[in-house]
Amino acid sequence: MRTVYVNGVYLPEDQAQVSIFDRGFLFGDAVYEVTAVMNGQMVDFDAHMDRLQRSMSELDMKNGYDRKDLLTIQKKLIEKNNLKEGLVYLQVTRGVADRDFDFSDLDVKPGLVLFTQVKKLEANPLAARGQKIVLADDLRWGRSDIKTVQLLYSSLMKTRAKRQGADDVWLCRDGKITEGSSNNAYIVTHNNEIVTRELSTDILHGITRASVLRIARLHQLKIVERAFSVDELLSAREAFSTSASGFVNPVVNVNGTAISDGEPGHVTTALRASYVAESQSASTRQSL
Ligand code: PDD
Repeated sequence: MRTVYVNGVYLPEDQAQVSIFDRGFLFGDAVYEVTAVMNGQMVDFDAHMDRLQRSMSELDMKNGYDRKDLLTIQKKLIEKNNLKEGLVYLQVTRGVADRDFDFSDLDVKPGLVLFTQVKKLEANPLAARGQKIVLADDLRWGRSDIKTVQLLYSSLMKTRAKRQGADDVWLCRDGKITEGSSNNAYIVTHNNEIVTRELSTDILHGITRASVLRIARLHQLKIVERAFSVDELLSAREAFSTSASGFVNPVVNVNGTAISDGEPGHVTTALRASYVAESQSASTRQSL
């Protein structure tokens, strides 16, 4: 059984409890991070903590936690669960209070919950066979750049995609792709340009996105940060997604139409290999 962390204590997962008055539960008033673990080490810890900080400040949340403490807790949890490859989930909620839309007078310590998940990140079957995706309107709230736990729309759309035999959903606004249910979205054009939507309030500022674009630049690949249309996607040379939980994963079919020959593309495969190699090396490990 896993050991999890809840508000200061490490417990077996079936003994961990949170209050029904936790604002994360009542209002979705919580932010989170999912960090990959490779060889027992967190990938891009600092970048995840920077984004957590940003999510909290955008929501006027008090920062009750020190980064060093968060590092210690995550390391301990990885150790206690003997996690070699998988994910660490960290959630900060605004805290526990009687139900009230107004939180201006709230003076409580934010809640903190963490758990680990075993996951094959390197040998992900989707990397070999490529993902089938379907498209849906992006009807999420207008601050997708904040990593809140309000994930119902994405969860519903992904479930419907799965029921249709697809692996995931990509979301569209005004005929252009925003991002996937829990990943950033890319195409490779016939001019070998990597196109991905520019950073704005429309998408999550992916940590894997930043690393993959840096790696692509090192490989002299041209990157264009702009929104791409559904038509461009359908006629692209390659398409792929990035996230901490999937790394770089090819997209080979969209709404039943094959992308190129329906096989994972060369650029995608090369970027995945470089990213996996980097995540296994010391270069992205926590600096504290
Ligand atoms: N999701 N876009 C959305 C909407 C996401 O939820 C995620 C990550 C990403 C990719 O961000 P990153 O590269 O920092 O993981 C993009 C995590 C993995 C999740 O919710 O499980």
